[in-house]
Amino acid sequence: MGLKLWLSGLIKIPAAFAIITVCYFHFWFWNTISYIEVNPASDIYDFIVVGAGSAGGVIASRLSEDPTYSVLLIEAGGYPSPLVNIPLISSIFPSTPFAWNYQTEPQKFGFSASINHRSNWPRGKGLGGSSILNFLLYVRGNKYDYDHWAALGNEGWNYEDVLPYFIKSENNRGIFIDEQYHGKKGNLIVEDRAWKSNLPQAFINAGLELGYPYVDINGKNQTGFTIPQLTTKHGARWSTYSAFLKKPYYDRPNLKVITFAEVKKVLINESKQAYGIQYKRHGNLKTVFAAKEIILSAGAIASPQILMLSGIGPKEHLERLEIKVHSDLRVGENLQDHIYVPLTPLVHNDSSASLVNPFDLTAWWDYFIHGTGQYTSNGVDGMAFKSSRYCEPDWPDIQLHFLSYSAASDHGICVRHLMGLEENAWQELFEPVSYVDTASIFATLVRPKSRGWIRLRSADPLDQPIIDPQFYSHPQDVQVMLEALLFAQETLNTTAMKKYLHLHDARLPYCKDLPVDSHLYLECLIKYMSATLHHSVGTCKMGPSTDREAVVDSQLRVYGIKGLRVADASVIPVIPNGNINAPVIMIGEKAAHMILEHHKNNKIPKLFLKGSSHKFLSRNGDEL
Ligand SMILES: Cc1cc2nc3c(=O)[nH]c(=O)nc-3n(C[C@H](O)[C@H](O)[C@H](O)COP(=O)(O)OP(=O)(O)OC[C@H]3O[C@@H](n4cnc5c(N)ncnc54)[C@H](O)[C@@H]3O)c2cc1C
Ligand SMILES: *[C@@H]1O[C@H](CO)[C@@H](O)[C@H](O)[C@H]1NC(C)=O
Ligand SMILES: *[C@@H]1O[C@H](CO)[C@@H](O)[C@H](O)[C@H]1NC(C)=O
Ligand SMILES: *[C@@H]1O[C@H](CO)[C@@H](O)[C@H](O)[C@H]1NC(C)=O
Ligand SMILES: *[C@@H]1O[C@H](CO)[C@@H](O)[C@H](O)[C@H]1NC(C)=O
Repeated sequence: MGLKLWLSGLIKIPAAFAIITVCYFHFWFWNTISYIEVNPASDIYDFIVVGAGSAGGVIASRLSEDPTYSVLLIEAGGYPSPLVNIPLISSIFPSTPFAWNYQTEPQKFGFSASINHRSNWPRGKGLGGSSILNFLLYVRGNKYDYDHWAALGNEGWNYEDVLPYFIKSENNRGIFIDEQYHGKKGNLIVEDRAWKSNLPQAFINAGLELGYPYVDINGKNQTGFTIPQLTTKHGARWSTYSAFLKKPYYDRPNLKVITFAEVKKVLINESKQAYGIQYKRHGNLKTVFAAKEIILSAGAIASPQILMLSGIGPKEHLERLEIKVHSDLRVGENLQDHIYVPLTPLVHNDSSASLVNPFDLTAWWDYFIHGTGQYTSNGVDGMAFKSSRYCEPDWPDIQLHFLSYSAASDHGICVRHLMGLEENAWQELFEPVSYVDTASIFATLVRPKSRGWIRLRSADPLDQPIIDPQFYSHPQDVQVMLEALLFAQETLNTTAMKKYLHLHDARLPYCKDLPVDSHLYLECLIKYMSATLHHSVGTCKMGPSTDREAVVDSQLRVYGIKGLRVADASVIPVIPNGNINAPVIMIGEKAAHMILEHHKNNKIPKLFLKGSSHKFLSRNGDEL
């Protein structure tokens, strides 16, 4: 490699350290100064929404569109800093105060080169939830995913039913889209990427070479290759906070937002009515009451945790922890997630290609002034869907993510940490190329058969729950992943891709003796170097009353309890075929609509109501 390239690579290391240190310090400082109680809360609201994430942000925003309802949104984190809006540095955020840093139990069937065999599961903490730190990909899943949900007995959830809710949120400003599948008037801005190297086109050409069409994966047919769209506005992150909660929505007098408030449990009385919640803020335990409903949107890990702490969950488990059981439901089961194995590091064989140089001020200028340039990129330059031999033709189970970086790109600081990869594996595979530009193809399993679970570690709400996704516990997942890796290899082996990239000749320490192009080597990679795409779902499963695993019905109401719904990634019965932020936002839209419809019919004019339950409160908690 050229000396100039090597030198420019070298300079990026202190620069990367500098950026990460500045970000970290900034986040800590930001969180400290925004830790102020703005206004006292009232003690009763019509609706209480717990968690301001991808779903919760949408729900609170939609419910408060009706000025006659008072809505409380309660969130454990604070306001997202403007720095989180820079797409290119997304892999930094999961290790800042804007994230919950969960970890799974050691995995038996894979993840062997991960530290302690555990998978890192960061989740967003703050207004916008995981949408303030995710990788911005806008992917809806496959038509048949939703038809499948409906076929399982969930009335109102087939593709025809849910498509209007995708369209309702969406404001798609892209060019390459199947028009009739998209919305242009919603809050959630979706854009074509503002910055492209020649890699995205190379990836599309690779697909064409292999006989796959260039498709809108959110349109008619998912099978094919694409350059993914992002939830950005002028190249900056457009989280559910930006889209649904920020001013002007935030100024609605009937919407109160409490930040830095951690909900401990839902209060349930003898008639099995959920009537309030208990939360902790500034070390003080407080209680607030709901006149109509409580909606849990704390995400696939915290929602089942809060339910179990409130006495809703598997009876034998709760009794062991001496928690009084209100409803015996299989909360925490049915845990599903997407995992990938990276074909990496791919090295550019063209020395004129160059990734980010943080000292290049024009790139910052382009980002802040024009909303263009490298900083607007999330690093995912291509995406493809294909069916393995184990599934139906138009309902793929394999997804490729083509990334213009690897765990070598930041010298092992953030990406390695996010993957949870142990030091010696990183050194063997990535260290030798950490001075040059690298790329990766993630072979991703999108219709996994393995199922895991979440349980309480103790009755203490501060204890992280026990998370065991049981990755690869179903042997078919290994077989499909093998096909996915072969597909990644095949894609790399096209003239379009070979022009720019080749696989660096290094092997994982554990698989050193195996020939690099053999199935055995790929199987070894699967066993040692998988990671999660952070798409955990399913832990408060939606299903009909005949489904023994169901926690909520198709209206998202918790079985056996009145006035309590769950609406977030945890209600998903079977994980959709793609990145799940857009599906979770759709769930938020649909939930809000169902709740409003439900109460519309028994809405009594304000005048005739007695008692404190229907006072109208401003955000300050003052009566109107
Ligand atoms: C690193 C990462 C990258 C990702 N990349 C993508 C991507 O590129 N594309 C994509 O489609 N999806 C992506 N995802 C997945 C997607 O962002 C999430 O699945 C989605 O945001 C989940 O939404 P949710 O509403 O279920 O939960 P969340 O958005 O996580 O919201 C839950 C909220 O509840 C709050 N909360 C939790 N417990 C409590 C409590 N006790 N009291 C009060 N508040 C509480 C949390 O702080 C949080 O704000 C990514 C996820 C991660 C973590
Ligand atoms: C979807 O695309 C794939 C790949 O091009 C093709 O084989 C299939 O027939 C298409 N299906 C439909 C319904 O158009
Ligand atoms: C439970 O709460 C509901 C609503 O506030 C109320 O109607 C009911 O009487 C309460 N039941 C008990 C046993 O307190
Ligand atoms: C990159 O490598 C491929 C295959 O080795 C070769 O055909 C191509 O010319 C190389 N490109 C450059 C710019 O070196
Ligand atoms: C790569 O493609 C060539 C033909 O283009 C083929 O001969 C070779 O077997 C392929 N290698 C792999 C690993 O797919």
